[in-house]
Amino acid sequence: MSTKLIAPSVLAADFANLQRDIEMINQSEADWFHIDIMDGVFVPNISFGMPVLHAITKHAKKTIDVHLMIVDPDRYIKTFADLGSDILTVHYEACTHLHRTIQAIKAEGMKAGVALNPHTNINVLEDTINDIDLVCLMSVNPGFGGQSFIENTYNKVQQLKALINRKGASTLIEIDGGVTNKNASALTESGADVLVAGSYVFKSNNQLETIKDLKAIVNP
Ligand code: DX5
Ligand code: ZN
Repeated sequence: MSTKLIAPSVLAADFANLQRDIEMINQSEADWFHIDIMDGVFVPNISFGMPVLHAITKHAKKTIDVHLMIVDPDRYIKTFADLGSDILTVHYEACTHLHRTIQAIKAEGMKAGVALNPHTNINVLEDTINDIDLVCLMSVNPGFGGQSFIENTYNKVQQLKALINRKGASTLIEIDGGVTNKNASALTESGADVLVAGSYVFKSNNQLETIKDLKAIVNP
């Protein structure tokens, strides 16, 4: 079985000590940097934008996984490619022409991700799954870190895994929101490949150990 990945969410970092927290992730056993971009329209919160991402990518030495929680993301695909994004994830709910958006992300040399809100059924990806590199299943309603995990996510992971297998796709499944040591192994056993963790990592007393433990839990 392939290695399961951990992606700390920089949203939960200490923004006054951003470089320190980025170096912590560099030195940790984490695999990716998860970067949450919110526009205050698609979600009821504004996180940070391009200048901050530019500052992050100057120091970050691992895969940059950008999660766009913005309306009409097509406007900024090239910008995020130029900023050094490796994976660019857009919301299904924010894209009128999702197929075109996926192709545009790939044309800029990035992996294409699609995020689904908790209320969005897996079957909407039936006709695009073979084009998608990563599906991000939201296990909280997007907009804020530190919310509690929605239990129905387990069913969705299983349904998505079944769709991927049935279509012969190689899409990765990422889980975003409320991930802790309590749900991590059940998620990867259900078929998840990448776990995003914000508060659980950054609010812990020993962040390096917390990341190491999570990584060990999902790779027994
Ligand atoms: C929520 C963001 C998540 C968030 C996860 O809208 O997409 O990536 O940072 O934070 P935790 O792990 O605290 O739920
Ligand atoms: Zn996210």
